[in-house]
Amino acid sequence: MICSRCRRYVQTKSVRLDLPSLNIQGDVCRIDCVDGDHFVAVTLNDEVIDVDRVYYDRLDDEWREVQTNRDKVLFYVLSQIVYPDFDTPQPDKLESLYALVDEFDVVFLRWQGGKAIGFYTVKPTGTEVFSTKERYVMPVVDTAYIRSEYRNQGFGTGILLDVITRFPNEDIGFSKPISNGMLKILKTFLMSRKEYRLHFWEVADCDISGSQQLVWCSLKRAAL
Ligand SMILES: CC(C)(COP(=O)(O)OP(=O)(O)OC[C@H]1O[C@@H](n2cnc3c(N)ncnc32)[C@H](O)[C@@H]1OP(=O)(O)O)[C@@H](O)C(=O)NCCC(=O)NCCS
Repeated sequence: MICSRCRRYVQTKSVRLDLPSLNIQGDVCRIDCVDGDHFVAVTLNDEVIDVDRVYYDRLDDEWREVQTNRDKVLFYVLSQIVYPDFDTPQPDKLESLYALVDEFDVVFLRWQGGKAIGFYTVKPTGTEVFSTKERYVMPVVDTAYIRSEYRNQGFGTGILLDVITRFPNEDIGFSKPISNGMLKILKTFLMSRKEYRLHFWEVADCDISGSQQLVWCSLKRAAL
């Protein structure tokens, strides 16, 4: 095939992806350019699923729960290819790579002008941690990501607004470590929305009850 980055005919390698936790109906394959040693595309039943494309059935600018096979593949590409390879997380900012979601995690994509530009995932209340058998006592925002070219336009803050709308009158957790970027957003949010200061918690999956502390207290301690 012709590789758009190498701009010539190249050899490609196609690997079938096994993504049981996403429960995708169909064959998902990752295609890499062998000559250029880089990612080319992910296909669903031989159709290329392109994160840079406008999807005309998603023209409403909104956060939307992922339910279709195509949107699950888009989430896979954003979380497992675009974020690690193109917007590489910076450990000094406490940004970390994300494992693929667990079976009961709820995934939301942010649609803007028909493009999927970011995601967040939530562990619902009652989700059991496999290693410790503890259960989450509140919905916990486990991962969050906005593509770098769309940052500093309010989409990250939109995650907070969306999650409090979906889980009204509930405490909300945020998985540790919370990155510096997310902490700044939380600080700005909690400065103006005082009523949430006693409802946003930091939570570590290895010790849910022992690790839980108010985000507002952490912000005060860190004097961010
Ligand atoms: C953290 C992250 C989700 C924030 O996304 P974002 O879309 O840039 O967030 P926002 O645009 O709402 O806020 C970022 C900044 O832009 C500012 N901003 C918000 N709306 C704006 C607008 N319309 N114009 C200009 N700036 C704006 C905010 O005040 C904020 O400023 P601050 O950093 O000085 O506090 C994003 O940086 C990211 O994906 N990071 C990598 C992964 C990560 O850290 N995930 C979180 C794990 S806990």
